[in-house]
Amino acid sequence: MRNTFLRSLALGAVLGIGTAYAQTTKFTVNGAQVKAQVNQHMYGVFFEDINMGADGGIYAELIKNRSFEFYKPLMGWKKEGDKIAEGDILVLNRTNHEANPRFLRVKTQSASKGNIGLTNEGFRGMGIKKDLKYDFSVMYRQSTPGLSLRLELLDGKDNIIGTATLKPEKSGEDWHKQGVSFVSSATELKGKFRIWFEGSGSIDLDMISLFPTDTWKNRPGGMRADMVQLLADMKPGFIRFPGGCIVEGHDLETRYQWKKTVGPIEDRQLIVNRWNTEFAHRLTPDYYQTFGLGFFEYFQLAEDIGAEAMPILNCGMACQFNTSELVPMEDMEQYVQDALDLIEFANGPVSSKWGKVRSDMGHPAPFNLKMLGVGNENWGPQYVERLKLFQTAIKAKYPNIKLIYSSGTDPNGAKFDYLNGELRKLNVDIIDEHYYRSPEWFLENAARYDSYDRNGPKVFAGEYAAQSDRIASTKNENNWKTALAEASFLTGLERNADVVRLASYAPLFAHVDGWQWTPDMIWVDNLHAYGTPNYQIQKLYSLNKGTDVISLTENGKAVSGQDGMYASATLDKNKNELIIKISNYSDKAKDVEFAIEGLKKLASKGTNTFIASENLDKENTIENPKNVVPMEQSIKASGKKIKTSLAPYSFNVLRFKTN
Ligand code: AHR
Repeated sequence: MRNTFLRSLALGAVLGIGTAYAQTTKFTVNGAQVKAQVNQHMYGVFFEDINMGADGGIYAELIKNRSFEFYKPLMGWKKEGDKIAEGDILVLNRTNHEANPRFLRVKTQSASKGNIGLTNEGFRGMGIKKDLKYDFSVMYRQSTPGLSLRLELLDGKDNIIGTATLKPEKSGEDWHKQGVSFVSSATELKGKFRIWFEGSGSIDLDMISLFPTDTWKNRPGGMRADMVQLLADMKPGFIRFPGGCIVEGHDLETRYQWKKTVGPIEDRQLIVNRWNTEFAHRLTPDYYQTFGLGFFEYFQLAEDIGAEAMPILNCGMACQFNTSELVPMEDMEQYVQDALDLIEFANGPVSSKWGKVRSDMGHPAPFNLKMLGVGNENWGPQYVERLKLFQTAIKAKYPNIKLIYSSGTDPNGAKFDYLNGELRKLNVDIIDEHYYRSPEWFLENAARYDSYDRNGPKVFAGEYAAQSDRIASTKNENNWKTALAEASFLTGLERNADVVRLASYAPLFAHVDGWQWTPDMIWVDNLHAYGTPNYQIQKLYSLNKGTDVISLTENGKAVSGQDGMYASATLDKNKNELIIKISNYSDKAKDVEFAIEGLKKLASKGTNTFIASENLDKENTIENPKNVVPMEQSIKASGKKIKTSLAPYSFNVLRFKTN
């Protein structure tokens, strides 16, 4: 007897599952009680150009202010040289090019290296990789060839780490594009780029551009592959774009207009990024939207990573936190037409006006758009009367497009109640709910959807992130505490997958030297990118969603906070697997037993993919990107019972074959 006790103590110690005295919590999982079908596109990503997510982030352009259209035309550029004189480098503003009016005029007389030049500082420097090829290009116009451009890539100490010469060949009235490539001899986090003008003559320059060649799918002028890869690894079900408040703009002038983001990049009219001056404590005056990453590229990205495209359009209202500017009801036609045209751009035949634009950009096949959002965080009766215009026009022409509408900024309160009521009266397809709340809120609200109307509109949990401090605080951390609270909450979304059809964490990207908003799912510098603990949780859900939600109970009740545990279960009918997700939000290990009913067989061995840390402050960083990542252990079932122990503060995904 004594030996048996000691043996169980020793075994317990080895497995880390407590002693024979530990109480076991018993759950029942019933594979025959299917509660919902899981939308195979349920877990997606929310992309917004905030925190230098696009320019200076995923859009791999290294030159800041390449077309001289920032409010200070030479922002990001510095004139250089020992012979530079007044008038040698001028900024001109032409009247016949509304989208891209400014360009540079450079004049030289027998100049050589060091005499007259320009240096670009990049977006908080330029991330440069040793032995990688870089593509330089420029648009130019000159009456006679005479000048050449000596190009130098520099490290942080001004050492040359790459060089090339470009001799513009063509002359005349027209603009021409020419490029040259070179290889870098060193890796540098904060590189710079310099152009020396050599020879004699005068030349006009615009769209001065430098791209690495290791972009996603090696597309010239494309996206940072490491950042896209992190998205692709999640196998996201959808990608929402372009935001976020970016959709609304500070005022209507700075709202997102998709039509200005397609076609040749030199014709895409740059505008200020509304996050540029949003927060006085995180001013980013050099933050603009060049739209090199525009709507075509968003659709293409979605297609590349197997995600549904989810564009969100302006509803005729500017940000209600800022100007609250409104388009009069009688002038709304253009806004509604933009939405109809977008559907044609995505899905129309090449013979249609906007289908042809898509085709001319290299994608004759439709993108197969299925859903569209109208309005981001808009609220009040002004929103309702405007969205009705979209609802009528879009449903008349495209009845199969699912429409998503905002429920405002908060998941409760007067604004939410009003909109939720109005949208339900209209029986809209999908309501977008946002929750930026404390970790405690996420835990307390894990059962939010257990009592939601099963027959009304579906829910899109469109923006959520647990805030370790408070909303818009610079002290918010992407730590394990916030991620575990989100993981616990997500069991409630999964359990109610018949109501909650879509879910995305927000925001997605942040540059360590250029952010305005924290927390964020993925952090980057100029050379590295890593997923936060919150990313790891979203990824675990996306990769382990299963096909059918089944019943998981403790004493007949859903598991939503009892003794700090939160759980849900699905079957993956394609792989014949049972998937149980369970979080233990407590400082004690928990012995648990799942009695499996309603399934003919259960494999005797399965896996637990888990993240556990008793240190709730634990984070991933550029230096230690794998501090908080899932680990896998094998676990056993005996007959139809799975017994295991959940580590303190852990999230666990158990998978067992069912035949
Ligand atoms: O995700 C950051 C911002 O939070 C979004 O732009 C907006 O929709 C929300 O207020």
